[in-house]
Amino acid sequence: GIELGKLLAKTGYITYDPGFVNTGATSSAITYIDGEQGILRYRGYPIEQLAQNSTFIEVSYLLIYGELPTKQQLDDFTSKINRHTLLHEDLKRFFDGFPRDAHPMPVLSSAVSALSTFYQDSLDPADTDNVELSTIRLLAKVPTIAAYAYKKSIGQPFLYPDNSLGLVENFLRLTFGLPAEPYEIDPTMAKALDLLFILHADHEQNCSTSTVRLVGSSEANLFASISAGIMALFGPLHGGANSAVLEMLEGIKADGGDVDTFVNRVKNKEKGVRLMGFGHRVYKNYDPRAKIIKQTADEILSKIAGGDELLDIAKRLEERALSDDYFVERKLYPNVDFYTGLIYRAMGFPTQFFTVLFALGRLPGWIAHWREMMTDPATKIGRPRQIYTGEKQRDYKPLSER
Ligand code: ACO
Repeated sequence: GIELGKLLAKTGYITYDPGFVNTGATSSAITYIDGEQGILRYRGYPIEQLAQNSTFIEVSYLLIYGELPTKQQLDDFTSKINRHTLLHEDLKRFFDGFPRDAHPMPVLSSAVSALSTFYQDSLDPADTDNVELSTIRLLAKVPTIAAYAYKKSIGQPFLYPDNSLGLVENFLRLTFGLPAEPYEIDPTMAKALDLLFILHADHEQNCSTSTVRLVGSSEANLFASISAGIMALFGPLHGGANSAVLEMLEGIKADGGDVDTFVNRVKNKEKGVRLMGFGHRVYKNYDPRAKIIKQTADEILSKIAGGDELLDIAKRLEERALSDDYFVERKLYPNVDFYTGLIYRAMGFPTQFFTVLFALGRLPGWIAHWREMMTDPATKIGRPRQIYTGEKQRDYKPLSER
């Protein structure tokens, strides 16, 4: 495939492939997906095994460095991250400038972009020490930034990170804790969030990862590339889908919980009405992440929230869709986001914040891809071609003659 691609490039032919449905933009050794069989593996390890046995921090190490860490490597990695969780006091002031009701995704992206201005000592993509330092800074600071975006939105003071805590626990405390009160971490909630982060950690050349690679291909630094990836994830067809699912379920609930009427609106292709959380560009059988989440959603929701009416609607909606020819013919199955919003909501996160949680999970994947690209000798600046459909040539007319 790689040799054929090179040959075609020499002949001057252009492949017209909107949405890059069939275009391999790179080779990669990070994540393997078989869409027909519903297989997902990080560095060769099946997602089911990682979900069962691993932790988000270990999976982050695996994605970025290619191997599961030894105990020593994991301890070093964890303690390096713990030592970088603080934000510069000036960066904290950045949050004051945003309106209180700002969506947390652009706030997150802006603050990550601003890291380029605070950490000018680690910007050189060609310097491996710089890249390593930026990697640690991102993994450590992005959860702090995310938590502050939330605190800002509800008008509560920012907490300093507690570096004796793990990454997920620290994030939960920064988000939900209050300065004067001890924050008790709910182990069920921490474990569930850790699992969701593992399931979101990478997904090969998806829209946001391809964005990180494309921006990085110009040798833009890691912070700049990741902030662009965050904005790609913001869209409702990508990371924004987890919020959209919840809004859809709330809408069905407000209409009396009638899933049939909603499914018919989807099938009639009413403008802007899709079954959110269904369908995937690559998975045409089932999304293995959705399977894992569905298994745990019941357990988590009953523990955290004592059952959930929206979960009931989601299950009826899934059942209804999966027995309908419209969805069967188009191979539309629940994707990772169909059930995640319900879990995030039960944890106490507002709907707008769900996509930020997706970004926290996807961060190690973005970093791993950026680093892989930077060290791949085959990397070139990303520069797609086009089929020109505009005017051929015309002569300029002075304003008075138009
Ligand atoms: N609801 C209803 N119909 C759908 C849906 C859906 N969720 N998804 C696809 N279809 C239909 C399309 O209308 C189209 O039908 P047609 O052939 O009659 O025109 C057919 O299925 C193929 O759809 P495409 O849009 O061509 O599929 P594509 O691969 O481009 O889109 C996508 C994939 C964007 C995920 C799409 O399925 C979608 O919009 N899903 C809802 C949003 C969502 O859940 N996104 C999260 C994706 S996973 C992630 O980012 C973590």
